[in-house]
Amino acid sequence: MRIGTLGNGLMAEALAGHWVKAGHDMMIGGRDPERAAEVAKRIGAAAGSLAEAAAYGEVVLLAVPAETAVEVAKIVPPGRTLIDCTNALDHRDFTLAQPATAEAINHAVPSVQVVKAFNLAADAVWRNPPANLGVPICGDGQLDLVAELVRDVGCVPVAAGGLVRAKLLEATAALAIAILVGGGDVRGMFPALADAFGTALPGQS
Ligand SMILES: NC(=O)c1ccc[n+]([C@@H]2O[C@H](COP(=O)([O-])OP(=O)(O)OC[C@H]3O[C@@H](n4cnc5c(N)ncnc54)[C@H](OP(=O)(O)O)[C@@H]3O)[C@@H](O)[C@H]2O)c1
Repeated sequence: MRIGTLGNGLMAEALAGHWVKAGHDMMIGGRDPERAAEVAKRIGAAAGSLAEAAAYGEVVLLAVPAETAVEVAKIVPPGRTLIDCTNALDHRDFTLAQPATAEAINHAVPSVQVVKAFNLAADAVWRNPPANLGVPICGDGQLDLVAELVRDVGCVPVAAGGLVRAKLLEATAALAIAILVGGGDVRGMFPALADAFGTALPGQS
């Protein structure tokens, strides 16, 4: 499929690299043409302005600072799927500066399908994800399409509910980052059910 990115930073490069390798047609969109072109060249994608990438993508990855997310999302044409990976972190105390970015985007740009995904792990993780990394997805439509893009990154899609749940995903990311910055380890917080209860639900192990 055709995918555009809004932003040419760490997240855009980490995810778009996988999507190029999976055979998708990618355009890296940036506000500075030279920076967008540099990233695009490294991963074998095309480059364009933010508006060009928004127009190009059937799916558009929004990978800009959260405080600019709503404004930048307004350039996405109607009918597109917008993957919002932003985290509105307050870097003073690693709480959320704004508790519902995906819903704010959905409110401001109701003509696109907003899906929250890829906000839970760092760009370094996305570049080289461990086996079976689960990626929660919250949205009200186009979930199969985003799940395909999760698999193309080498990860496992986890249906996490409608867009109304996106704020929980945003809060989860803030909590995880706060724990990590405080020197804690989040990896042991969600053991397999079989480890916790000695049994597994159907389809889980
Ligand atoms: N990095 C992570 O580990 C990680 C993990 C999960 C989620 N996220 C979230 O993903 C989003 C992107 O993160 P990132 O690490 O990729 O950031 P980044 O490397 O700093 O890249 C940010 C991109 O946004 C662009 N940008 C900044 N202000 C803009 C504006 N006003 N209008 C248009 N474009 C603007 C920048 O353009 P220039 O190049 O021209 O400055 C750059 O291309 C953030 O919301 C972040 O919270 C990041």
